[in-house]
Amino acid sequence: MIVLGIESSCDDTAAAVVAEGVLRSNIVATQLDHVLYGGVVPEVASRIHEQYIVPVVAQALASAAITIRELSGIAVTYGPGLAGALVVGLNFAKGLAQALHIPFIGVDHMEGHLWANFLKNPAANDGSPFICLLVSGGHTHLWRVEGVGQYTLLGRSLDDAAGEAFDKGARLLGLAYPGGPAIETAAREGNPQYVDFPRPMRGTEGCDFSFSGLKTALYYYLKRQSSTDIGNNLRHIAASYQLAVVDCLMDRLQRAVQLTGLSRVFVAGGVAANALLRHRLDRWAGSQKLTLSYPPLEFCTDNAAMIALAGSAHLAAGDRSSLDLEISPNLSLADRASRGHVRD
Ligand code: KG4
Ligand code: ZN
Repeated sequence: MIVLGIESSCDDTAAAVVAEGVLRSNIVATQLDHVLYGGVVPEVASRIHEQYIVPVVAQALASAAITIRELSGIAVTYGPGLAGALVVGLNFAKGLAQALHIPFIGVDHMEGHLWANFLKNPAANDGSPFICLLVSGGHTHLWRVEGVGQYTLLGRSLDDAAGEAFDKGARLLGLAYPGGPAIETAAREGNPQYVDFPRPMRGTEGCDFSFSGLKTALYYYLKRQSSTDIGNNLRHIAASYQLAVVDCLMDRLQRAVQLTGLSRVFVAGGVAANALLRHRLDRWAGSQKLTLSYPPLEFCTDNAAMIALAGSAHLAAGDRSSLDLEISPNLSLADRASRGHVRD
């Protein structure tokens, strides 16, 4: 089975080809225009998706050395994400599938992130249950996963996502968008104990997160400092802020392991690219004898390889989407039995 994956839920226009479960090409065109605005502008994103989608798909096919007629299915993100951005990918996929007389499947973007773990490590998909921390710019969720399509929510952010905490924090610090990599770079050689930022929800019952108080604490901290002090100590402030976000993520993840007794832990989404988080995860998993998985760096942030792989699994299981499938900007893994899908 040769599947074309398409991803256009936010500010990356991406296409990839997976043949018999193996990644053959992976093209990501990141829309740099948003850097100018310090965040993603939805209207700008959808217009650029329209410009990029044809060349990006053509490049994915060319670098996989696959002709369009060889495709056996198309997988496309249909939510969650920006409405105007999702529409571009979904309509393109529907049109192409219709023209080629092949099936297409709508894939949940967050399920795609989870599947990024299996791109280079298919053996990890062995059917046993695991905990998955999904940390992106729009979501911070802890799931118990029994198998493809079987997700139970353990906890979620009650306000901002972890990636959003990085993006908003970076903006307050005068750093570029996206904020996660900008803070990570600024924090290099900084003293993470320099400012004692709060760790919201740490030690509380359940597995929920909260990040908006942390961002507010940074705001008031910066208000009390002179611009010279901020400039001189930027790396220390960035390191302290980064540590606070990572501490919160680790605390809730550890709690999820305690509550469920599961020993397999998966992490995915853009924030999983963070080196401090990866280091802390490695140390913890080593000391607790947990099986830990996070994707290679290039598959943490948005890409279509993860969509193609998740879509391949659904198509192989006989799942199909009908042309009635609509975008679902607020889609949750919990409503996987979603509209517009049928099983052969
Ligand atoms: O998964 P993703 O590419 O897009 C969404 O689905 O949202 O995640 C993007 C988020 C942004 O908030 C970005 O700041 C964050 O991931 N991010 C990072 C790093 N790289 C990307 N956060 C912390 N450290 C990083 N190295
Ligand atoms: Zn994403």
